[in-house]
Amino acid sequence: MLGPVLLAASRSDRMRRVVAAAPLTRPVVNRFVAGDELRPALDTVRALTARGLDVTLDHLGEGVTDRATAHATRDAYLRLLEALRDEGLGDRAEVSVKLSAFGQSLPGDGHDIALAGVREVAALATAVGTTVTLDMEDHTTADSTLAVLHELRRDHPRTGAVLQSYLFRTEDDARALAVAGSRVRLVKGAYQEPARVAFQDRREVDRAYVRALRVLFAGDGYPMVGTHDPRMIAIAQNLAARHRRAPDTYEFQMLYGVRTAEQRRLADEGMRMRVYVPYGADWYGYFMRRLAERPANLAFFLRSFGPGR
Ligand code: FDA
Repeated sequence: MLGPVLLAASRSDRMRRVVAAAPLTRPVVNRFVAGDELRPALDTVRALTARGLDVTLDHLGEGVTDRATAHATRDAYLRLLEALRDEGLGDRAEVSVKLSAFGQSLPGDGHDIALAGVREVAALATAVGTTVTLDMEDHTTADSTLAVLHELRRDHPRTGAVLQSYLFRTEDDARALAVAGSRVRLVKGAYQEPARVAFQDRREVDRAYVRALRVLFAGDGYPMVGTHDPRMIAIAQNLAARHRRAPDTYEFQMLYGVRTAEQRRLADEGMRMRVYVPYGADWYGYFMRRLAERPANLAFFLRSFGPGR
């Protein structure tokens, strides 16, 4: 019940100010976000990779409404990739991007502006020996995002996509993307979507997740299983065994700060486990989606508004 309220709040500037000003917001944010700056994020990457985990880094930001900020996003990713190159982390850390932070929703030529910006990022990623994955945002952006993917994959075939099982369209998209060299992260979906495009019932979303998993594991691509759900992880492991997939032909992915012990357990069992590490000052939307996913996170956070704090 609270999920939709929090997802609505994630788009409110007024709530953004209230949440940012709450005294104990920062410690709770720190559970999910690896710092406002690149340097602490790199410390986190080093600690995770030393522990046998791979990483995908997200420079936080979304819904950019002017060109200057879109260009600043591109520049932040170029600095990030240069740092990964300088630190020799290109084989362990890739980057995840939200195209709305590259200007996708700017009126008129937003799609082309985002494509031009992310193209530069993909070119440097290839030079550094790593990859870019295009996060998926709300359903209105899906066609544009998949078109950008298609363009990028011409020159950078390992560019990854994200599919959300709550969308009715996803099984078809999974079929189209289950081809050689194609990296696809399957998630359940984190945005508030209308009933005409998305399943509303969690059990339906789970069933759709399993259907898409089956398609991806049966295909020739590289499935990236983005979930913390033990049942989905077990099903993915069964599918990997059934299709005789070697451990380097798929991977698991989880969010920084969520089910950390399970992340380590899977890595220790020889699975490829990648942690999604967000950093940057624009953490509000990402943070609110994490609260919406889990009431226990919200209870922890609400205590920060308590008397005397
Ligand atoms: P589910 O929500 O059913 O949770 C299963 C269990 O995991 C819970 O019972 C709990 O134990 C634990 N858990 C889940 N979320 C938690 C949280 N926030 N805090 C603490 N425990 C939690 N979405 C999207 O729309 N576009 C995208 O590009 C991405 N990208 C992405 C990358 C990666 C690596 C991951 C793991 C997830 C995403 N997501 C995403 C988010 C995704 O859509 C989804 O909202 C969350 O992963 C939660 O769904 P689960 O599959 O974990 O299952």
